[in-house]
Formats: sequence, structure tokens, C-alpha cells
Amino acid sequence: MSQLLIDGGTVLNGEVRASGAKNATLPILAATLLADETVVIQNVPHLHDVTTTIELLGHLGATVTVGDGQAVEVDPSTIHSQVAPYELVSRMRASILVLGPLLAKYGECEVSLPGGCAIGSRPVDLHIQGLRKMGADIRVENGYVHAKCKRLQGTRLVLETVTVTGTENLMMAATLAEGTTIIENAAREPEIVDLANCLNAMGAKVTGAGSSELVIEGVERLHGAEYSVMGDRIETGTFLVGAAITGGKVTVRDADARWLDATLVKLQEAGGKIESGSGFITLDMAGKRPLAVNIHTAPHPAFPTDMQAQFVALNAVADGVATVTENIFENRFMHVPEMQRMGANIKIEGNTAIVRGVEKLNAAQVMATDLRASASLVLAALVADGQTAVSHIHHIDRGYDCIEEKLGSLGAKIQRISGSEAG
Ligand code: EPZ
Repeated sequence: MSQLLIDGGTVLNGEVRASGAKNATLPILAATLLADETVVIQNVPHLHDVTTTIELLGHLGATVTVGDGQAVEVDPSTIHSQVAPYELVSRMRASILVLGPLLAKYGECEVSLPGGCAIGSRPVDLHIQGLRKMGADIRVENGYVHAKCKRLQGTRLVLETVTVTGTENLMMAATLAEGTTIIENAAREPEIVDLANCLNAMGAKVTGAGSSELVIEGVERLHGAEYSVMGDRIETGTFLVGAAITGGKVTVRDADARWLDATLVKLQEAGGKIESGSGFITLDMAGKRPLAVNIHTAPHPAFPTDMQAQFVALNAVADGVATVTENIFENRFMHVPEMQRMGANIKIEGNTAIVRGVEKLNAAQVMATDLRASASLVLAALVADGQTAVSHIHHIDRGYDCIEEKLGSLGAKIQRISGSEAG
């Protein structure tokens, strides 16, 4: 099992480029299933989740060409199967995003239920409810969603919970429905705007993306297009927290401050000086120790749950006491026991972590449990005394493109050792 070895005590300084956004790339890859012609996607990050999605598209029969650099070409005209099997879907929950496109394009599909994951049960009942309301006949049997519908019908959907991939699945399905679909209480994440922009480049008629009311006018077909994915705002936020936690100055390029308002407000509260312009964000901590900041996660544009673990790491060494409340997922504090092993003073009460900052953490052997938890352990290791070994780093490779190279370029002493070397 490969590990990341991180020597604490370095200050992060310099400039790094955000890769393409994982949570925009995954739905956009699924959206290619809706087209009659080749779709070329630029700025695709090199991530395990992207590889899994490409594998799934290939399994369905699409011709996928991974170009040099960050381009991926998908030709959906060779698709011969509409079955997304458990062995692929269970590896990555976001595979459920092929459900809407396959049903809308082919009128029938079988998609494995993704099952839970470390951070929660992650149901997809709202995806299914919406498609049923659009006229689909859906049976859930033997762990698979069996969906059938000659042609989906546009209608008014009101989502009882704000769901990112639920909004994305239903928006994609509605692009080829008969008539107009309105989705109320839609998720407002920037990645949804990116998906809508890509769908419209393919000939769809989506308006309202980024607001809580989407209007999708169904069309007969979607044609090919070329589209470049937005920068990854969570990767961006993670590097900015790295600057805040080590007292350094970091600029992230290909990042737009408007995607991260709530996160930037908290970084300023922690004492970071933020400067931003077209395509960059800079945080300068000027050698100061961060101040503790209270966090409440909620749907965009409020504070993102995907930045919660990173701020627990910041608060662990901050000046003061803070509470971090996780309101989206039921089990997203698995980084806490690992940080406690590093000397963090954290107490969990229900869905709130009470964090009392300490001057220094101590290096330890820690285990990554899920994507963002693993990033937070790397951040904690940057300010720990000694060398920390983070194991199970396949979690981190799911969502961070070349993390050791990027952190290394900012001055971190970090290396990846393979399983055999790890002993
Ligand atoms: C997306 O997951 C992201 N993944 C997650 O990022 C992110 O944490 C999450 O949105 C919240 O922002 C991708 O975009 C691929 P939800 P998703 O549906 O869509 C409940 C990362 O680290 N719910 O918005 O699966 C659900 O249980 C990952 O990059 C239902 O009850 O999350 C949760 O409590 C982790 N029924 C809440 O809604 C449903 O049918 C929000 O979940 C769907 C969701």
C-alpha cells in the first residue's frame, strides 16, 4: 500500500495551477452519452475517478481517446450497451450520473446502485423520484436501477433536498425530454453551471444554472462540441489552506474567487490576506499563526462540505477554539481520530467538532479514509513535528492531480513511497 511521507515544518510559498475540476469533469463525461457526435473535453484532470468514468464509457461501447495533455475525446456513436455494472459503479458513486443520459438517449438502461461510501449512505432516491415524475418506469431490483421510458416528458420538479448529482442527472435527462422541465430547489454549485454550459454547447437549452431554479427546454438531439472544464475550486481551497496553516504565501492560477466566496471569507477571518483577479487567487499569511474560525457546511454558495476537513486541520493548530458543524453528510469526521493521534485537541458532539488549537502537532502514522479527509491529513502533516506517513492514499489520488508534485513545488518536503518500500 503506497504512502505519502511528509516532513513537517516547511512554509508553503509560490504558485500552483489548479487542475480541471473533478466534480465538473465527471458529469460532463456522462453528458457525452447524450450526443450523436464526438465531444472533445479539454482541461481534464488526471484522477482515478476520471479513469473510472472513462472505463465505464468504454464498457458501454463509446470510443474514448485520451489525447496528449488534458484532452479526452468521446465518440458516443459506437455505444452498444446501456448496462453500468456494479464492479464499475461501486468503485465510484458518481457513476450514477450515467443514469439520466442513458435513459434520455436510449429509452432504457440498467445502472447499478452505487451503495454507500465512507462519508454516508449517499442515497439516490431523489434521482429516481425525478425520473419517475418525468414518466420513467423504474424498478430497483438486485442492487440495480432498471429504467425504461420511450421519451421522458418535461415537467415541474421540486427537489426536497438540495442534491448536486441529483440536479445534474435530472438536468441531463431533461435536455432530450419532450417539452420543458423546471427543476426547483436545484443545487447551485459552479460545477452545475459548467455542466449546463457544456450541454448548451452541445445544442441543449438550459437556463438558470447557478440559481435554484433550472429551466430546460427539451430538444430532439444533441450534437458534438468542444468544451474546457473549469478549474477545481476544492483543490484551490485546499492549497490556500496549506498557505494559511503554514504561514506562507500561495497563488493558485486557473481559479476564480467567485467559486469560493464562503471559503475565502473564512480564510480572511483566520488572518489570511486574500488578493484575487482574473484567473488567480493569492493568500498571504505573512508568517502568522491562523486564528480559529467557526464553520457550518451547507449547499453552495454557503461553506462547502468538501472544505470541512481542511478547516479542521487549520483549526487544529490555530490560535483559539472553534466549532466545525457538518450539516450535509452523516459521517464526515473520520479525519478527526487520525488527527487526534497527531495530538490534535478535538471533541466530537453529534455533527459538531469542537477544536482547541495547539501550537504543534506530532508526526504519526495515519490512515486516509476518504478523499477530503486524506487531504486534511496531508495539511496537518505539514505543521507536525517530524515525518508523518499517510497510508491508503488511493483516496487522495481520486481527487487530487499530482498532489505531491504540486505541494513539492510550493516547498513541502513530501514523497510517495510504493507499498514494498513502505514495509
Ligand atoms: C456531490 O456529491 C459531490 N460529488 C461531493 O463531492 C460533494 O461533497 C456533495 O455533492 C455535496 O456538495 C460529485 O459532485 C461527484 P448530494 P452528491 O447529492 O451529489 C442527500 C468530493 O469530495 N441526498 O449533493 O452525491 C445526501 O445523502 C465529493 O469531491 C438524498 O437524500 O451529494 C446528502 O445528505 C464527496 N437523496 C445531501 O443530499 C438523493 O437522492 C447532499 O448530497 C441524493 C442526495
